[in-house]
Amino acid sequence: MADLDDIREGREFGRDRPADTIRFFLKGAAHLDWGLKARLARIFRPATGRTVMLAFDHGYFQGPTRGLERIDLTIAPIAAAADVLMCTRGALRSMIAPETGRPVMLRCSAGSSVLTELSNELVAVDIEDAIRLDAAGMAAQVYIGAEFEHRSIANVVKLVDTGTRYGIPTMAVTAVGKEMARDARYFALASRIAAELGAHLVKTYFVEEGFEKVALSCPVPIVIAGGKKLPERAALAMARRAIDEGAAGVDMGRNVFQSEAPAAMLQALNAVVHGGETAEQAYGMFMDLREPRAA
Ligand code: R5P
Repeated sequence: MADLDDIREGREFGRDRPADTIRFFLKGAAHLDWGLKARLARIFRPATGRTVMLAFDHGYFQGPTRGLERIDLTIAPIAAAADVLMCTRGALRSMIAPETGRPVMLRCSAGSSVLTELSNELVAVDIEDAIRLDAAGMAAQVYIGAEFEHRSIANVVKLVDTGTRYGIPTMAVTAVGKEMARDARYFALASRIAAELGAHLVKTYFVEEGFEKVALSCPVPIVIAGGKKLPERAALAMARRAIDEGAAGVDMGRNVFQSEAPAAMLQALNAVVHGGETAEQAYGMFMDLREPRAA
């Protein structure tokens, strides 16, 4: 117990220094609770307000796709260079060491495969397991306009509700069904719906025309998927444009792990997203750093 003999009255109340009322560095998060903000501050670097996530959750519907045949050999060695790891709980537990120390965006929706209707998903992780895994965020696909749109919305809503209870943010991933147009109008629609459902961040695709409108009309941060593998220079140019047009980061998979030099690609993306480098500067960095993976 503290000594009761010397209880001094406070006198330095900083009358001329009002308490900090700057609420938070991320768009749409000013009024969130402490735990949600703390986790968002692990997902996005407070110094830049941006993130470079590494997505390697593809196996949940694609199986052992190129570059992810052995996550322990291809992803684990480069994982520490990403701000966030987006993956399934199975990959995390079996192939990523906890000492990696990176925040995890846990893939929480699943339920279909490349052989079936992709939009038919469910929430496939219990909130208790997300907590056990120290998830910094939970992710679910939202299939606007697809056959199982309603169910995918219910999945996002469930994650938002359970995650909010425990301070874990939800990332909605705007998935594109086979029949859907991949244009700004569609992604603005899907991203905005996801944010209005309560998603704390949205993963969507970059589009050549009108991406700024997608980002501006979404009240929470947007990160872009990489999509199909592009030449490294083009992928870096896409990242640069996305950031310039309002994205708060990237959540790339194939353009990193299918690159001839994944570690160099991750560093080049960091230079674009956090360092403000041009695509050409970052590509120069990639060329200098690349050490092609062993065959
Ligand atoms: C969406 O289906 C998953 O999150 C993917 O694994 C991820 O979006 C794909 O990333 P990328 O398009 O950059 O390979």
